[in-house]
Amino acid sequence: MRNFASIPAMRRQAQAWRTEGLTIALVPTMGALHEGHAALIRTARRQADKVVASIFVNPIQFGPDEDFVRYPRDMKTDRHLCRAWGVDAVFAPAARAMYANDHSVFVEETALRRTLCGRTRPGHFRGVATVVLKLFNIVAPHTAVFGQKDFQQVAVVQRLVRDLNVPVAIVAVPTVREKDGLAISSRNARLTSEQRRIAPCLWAALQAARRLCRAKPRSSAAVGKTIRKIIRAQGAYSAVEYIETVCPRTLHPVQTVKQGTLIALAVQIGDVRLIDNLVV
Ligand code: PAF
Repeated sequence: MRNFASIPAMRRQAQAWRTEGLTIALVPTMGALHEGHAALIRTARRQADKVVASIFVNPIQFGPDEDFVRYPRDMKTDRHLCRAWGVDAVFAPAARAMYANDHSVFVEETALRRTLCGRTRPGHFRGVATVVLKLFNIVAPHTAVFGQKDFQQVAVVQRLVRDLNVPVAIVAVPTVREKDGLAISSRNARLTSEQRRIAPCLWAALQAARRLCRAKPRSSAAVGKTIRKIIRAQGAYSAVEYIETVCPRTLHPVQTVKQGTLIALAVQIGDVRLIDNLVV
């Protein structure tokens, strides 16, 4: 496995593969790799001849009060896992290589970011879209693989490649879960054992909402009530940031939840913010 920190060196390698006629799949990550990333890399390996995993905790997608500093970082373990999972190259640039001091160009998606996480994380999707386009320009992948847990992120990236004519196919991989249903996330490592015990209530609540809507369409309010009740029953540890029912294509809120509606939520458990979603 090759390791690159330098942008020109990564670009040379990518161009060399392309010249040989080989295809490249990129798995963009912020490190702290887990089984969810393993699934992305497995998919990437099926999609292309060469797999590049980028590891970069992107400062511009975190708000001033968010967990950029506390975000888990363990480059040694991450490289070890990438090797074991069959990654061909790790691209792990320093922040100063990615962003000049006077960096002043950003990519902004202006519609999909208005709902869900975009409401409480202003600037987040601008940071994501900017770094993703930069990574695409450096690695020149044919395909890029993202996790469906970040449903809105996938939607924003799909819109980015469509609207800016970026020749990269976006592949979304279903959320990988622990045995008790908790969506696997790097942030789970920051849960205390008590918080970890209650965290599966997010998935349990989403499933209860799905069961509710299977028999007949329900109002968004009824779905929200069902989910809140299940989460609140877990006690004072958790605070619901949002529960939204939206069209999965436009992310516009819908009043009636039926087959095909996306139910997405963000819940703060202690000081750890968790998100999850499902399509009914
Ligand atoms: O999902 C993530 O880990 C990040 O948002 C991404 C796509 C790597 C961009 O920094």
